[in-house]
Amino acid sequence: MEYRTDAEGITAGMLEGFFVGWPDPPSEKTHLRMLRDSSRRVLAVDRKAGRVVGFITAVSDGVLSAYIPFLEVLPEYQGAGIGRELVRRMTGELNHLYMIDVCCDDDVVPFYERFGMHRTNGMILRNYSRQSGSEEK
Ligand SMILES: CC(C)(COP(=O)(O)OP(=O)(O)OC[C@H]1O[C@@H](n2cnc3c(N)ncnc32)[C@H](O)[C@@H]1OP(=O)(O)O)[C@@H](O)C(=O)NCCC(=O)NCCS
Repeated sequence: MEYRTDAEGITAGMLEGFFVGWPDPPSEKTHLRMLRDSSRRVLAVDRKAGRVVGFITAVSDGVLSAYIPFLEVLPEYQGAGIGRELVRRMTGELNHLYMIDVCCDDDVVPFYERFGMHRTNGMILRNYSRQSGSEEK
C-alpha cells in the first residue's frame, strides 16, 4: 500500500466506490476537487489495482485548529489497518496544532478512542440539496 499526502497524478477514475450509503454522493470529479482543496489529505493507493482505496481529509486554519470531515476505506479493503494508518499519518501532519476535531457516528467512537480522542458533543447543520457538492468556482 502506498500512502501519500498529495493528489498529484490522481485521476477521477481512481476514486470509484467511495461515499458508501450516501443517497446523493459527490461524483469522482467532485471528490478529486475535495482532495485537492482540503488543507491536508492522506491517500492510501493500491498501485497494482490503480486505485485509491482509502482517504482522510482535514480543513485547518494552520494555527490552532483542524477538523477532519472525511475518513473512508473501501469496504473490500477494511480491516487491514489502512484506516488506522490514515489517522496516524493525519494526526502526525497536524500535531503542531491545539485542536483536532472529528464528528462521527456512535459505532466509530471506539475506533477514534484508540488514538486518544475523547467523546464530546457536536452540533451540525446539513444542506441536503448540496450533498453531492457545490458548483465549481
Ligand atoms: C472506520 C474505518 C475508516 C476503519 O477503517 P479500517 O481500515 O477498516 O480500520 P483498521 O483496519 O485500520 O482498524 C484499526 C483497528 O480499529 C478497529 N476498528 C475498525 N473499525 C472499528 C469500529 N467501527 N469500531 C471499533 N473498532 C474498529 C479494528 O478492529 C482494528 O483493531 P485492531 O488494531 O485490534 O486490529 C472504515 O471502517 C470505514 O471506512 N468505515 C465507513 C466510513 C466511516 O465510518 N468513516 C468514519 C467517518 S467519521
